[in-house]
Amino acid sequence: MAILFDAEKQIFFLHTQNTTYQMKVDGQKYLLHLYYGKTMDASTEYMLTYFDRGFSGNPHTAGTDRTYSLDALPQEFPVLGNGDYRSVAFKVREENDCYGCDLRYLRHEISGHKYGIPGLPAAYGTNAQTLTVVLEDARLGLEVSLLYGVLEDCDVITRAVQVKNKGTKTVYIEKLASACLDFLYGTYDVITFYGRHAMERNMQRTRVSHGRQMVGSTRGCSSHQYNPFIILAGEDTSERRGECYGAAFVYSGSFGAETEKDQYDQTRFLMGLSEEQFSYPLEKNQVFYAPEVVLSYSEQGMNRLSQQFHRCVSKHICRGAWQHKIRPVLVNSWEACYFDFTGEDIVNLARQAAELGIEMVVLDDGWFGHRNDDNSSLGDWEVNEEKLGCTLGELADRIQETGVQFGIWIEPEMVSEDSELYRTHPEWIMQIPGKKPVRARNQLILDFANPKVVSYLYGKIAAVLSQGEIHYVKWDMNRSLSDIYSNYAVKQGAVLYDYMLGVYRLLEQLTADFPEILWEGCSGGGGRFDMGMLYYTPQIWCSDNTDAVDRVRIQYGTSFGYPLAVMGAHISAVPNHQTGRTTDFHTRGVVSMTGAFGYEMDLGKLSDEEKAQVREQISRYHEAAPLLQSGDYYRLSNPFTDEFGAWMVVDAGRRKALLSVVMLNIHGSLPVIYVKLDGLDETKEYRDTESGSVYSGAALMSCGLPVTLRLGDYQAYQIQFEATE
Ligand code: GLA
Repeated sequence: MAILFDAEKQIFFLHTQNTTYQMKVDGQKYLLHLYYGKTMDASTEYMLTYFDRGFSGNPHTAGTDRTYSLDALPQEFPVLGNGDYRSVAFKVREENDCYGCDLRYLRHEISGHKYGIPGLPAAYGTNAQTLTVVLEDARLGLEVSLLYGVLEDCDVITRAVQVKNKGTKTVYIEKLASACLDFLYGTYDVITFYGRHAMERNMQRTRVSHGRQMVGSTRGCSSHQYNPFIILAGEDTSERRGECYGAAFVYSGSFGAETEKDQYDQTRFLMGLSEEQFSYPLEKNQVFYAPEVVLSYSEQGMNRLSQQFHRCVSKHICRGAWQHKIRPVLVNSWEACYFDFTGEDIVNLARQAAELGIEMVVLDDGWFGHRNDDNSSLGDWEVNEEKLGCTLGELADRIQETGVQFGIWIEPEMVSEDSELYRTHPEWIMQIPGKKPVRARNQLILDFANPKVVSYLYGKIAAVLSQGEIHYVKWDMNRSLSDIYSNYAVKQGAVLYDYMLGVYRLLEQLTADFPEILWEGCSGGGGRFDMGMLYYTPQIWCSDNTDAVDRVRIQYGTSFGYPLAVMGAHISAVPNHQTGRTTDFHTRGVVSMTGAFGYEMDLGKLSDEEKAQVREQISRYHEAAPLLQSGDYYRLSNPFTDEFGAWMVVDAGRRKALLSVVMLNIHGSLPVIYVKLDGLDETKEYRDTESGSVYSGAALMSCGLPVTLRLGDYQAYQIQFEATE
């Protein structure tokens, strides 16, 4: 059993394959955190120390014991109101602006399945268990259930929180972090993935120091700027060595992640909903759920930690028909023709695609309303038959006749001022009365906190998807939220959260009613690249930046928390539309092929030589796809500091491996680059399937492989290895 309760000592043990999480209900009925790390059957309660410390108050029930202070003890769910002055997980305001919460243990329950969260995405699994610890504030009538999910196979512990108001008065939840990790001592680094539109998930490593450090999003989406995935690593931890903890928020809206080193050099980590513009009214008998945080621990460095998250995402987060299926190679119309197309052009793209072995054509933005640029028609999900020269059903048929599948783009959460929807329902947008809303990309935000808006959009989008055989939908979201005000909501402090529930409701209904469709998430590329979206869409367009060199870095940063198979990656034309840089067709192939692979260019402009390369890339992709989909991923360089990007994928039996290397710099008389491989079997020999050279697995991992130098910018290498026996 993964979850054990030692009734005598009042200690909970949560065991995964290689890790243990411990907590204790103490004499005061507080839930204290004891341990999170490698497997540990022995209690670590003896690590708790008690001293009389000035200005660290004592709960009244401790009597005259001045050594008991929540300001110093490690806790599972610290609250504002009982003498802990560090950053807390839970703040509750009463009607009279009082903050006096005090949560004590009431009861617990262990169940043989993984909890789900109504209306919110959450990890699932048949071989998983749940521990529910119910805490109570008797004065407020609040029952707070801490939910712990144990996914043994990928060394994951999940956390979520349910708050029930059993009292008589409305209270306001002003902060709720789903996960808290307290460490008694140690020097930690916090690794965050920051960025901007078209340059997401750069990596920053900083020392956790005295004071609060925080990243997050207040944009109503998880954001390009900070990803809701964070690593806390020991100061000496590297890719292959040392202790580290990862935390991913299974939520796509505003979030906050904090680290704090306190006065006694203890470290606290918190992750959950953003406090900004959040004040959730919880009325009598009402229940609130805080979204899930996925936690994992590795004592073998960050690459192992990433592999644990990869397994968790592919086995316990992604769902649906496409979860484990090899994705079709597609061509997307966006960088091929932007808004400038007719139905005939798209059929032509399909014909060219079919000739090259590309399996799907995706019609991106511009097929609805009168949208010929990005200033109009969002919200008008009516097919522009005049532009297409036919109905959507006819277009889908004509495309299918060429032998390829058909997909389309939508952006359900937005509305253009120049649209029928806005003219008919101006009250359906987020707009503060008396204030003109902030525009972005010349579009406004629909009020997804209003169920009417969500059901209207369901009707419209379902009708479009029923017009013909549509195999793929790219769900986009092209601006950050502002002017948080819903005409529907009674209290505006609930709107940001209720907006996300609306988005998830629409995603759930559409993905359930169109289960065969391959859904791709997108938000100006990777602005909503999170586990919340991955619960509905098994892949996400990784970035609007398709430049191969930038993509090496973006995909590298993304790989810390997310597997390759979920990263949309396309070969585009050069000079690249975002950077103006020119890279080889081969290099672009090597970089894109290790993601959810496709093309995003005018295929008619390809030279014969490039066409031959496309055919070769597709056959290589098909060969490698099962490996890429389920193999173990290894980062072999840091493309932010090294002269090259290198990564590899190895299958479970360690018989097949695919190594990719991209040179990021070139100099005269360049020193030879040696790449050390990983994940191979030391006792096996491996053949380079192209050159036929045979190497020992042990040597490839200990000594590495010299990379043959080719002159020219951004040369790339892809080597397939197969065990000789
Ligand atoms: C966003 C997406 C792009 C494309 C455009 C269309 O920027 O990330 O891939 O779909 O919108 O407007």
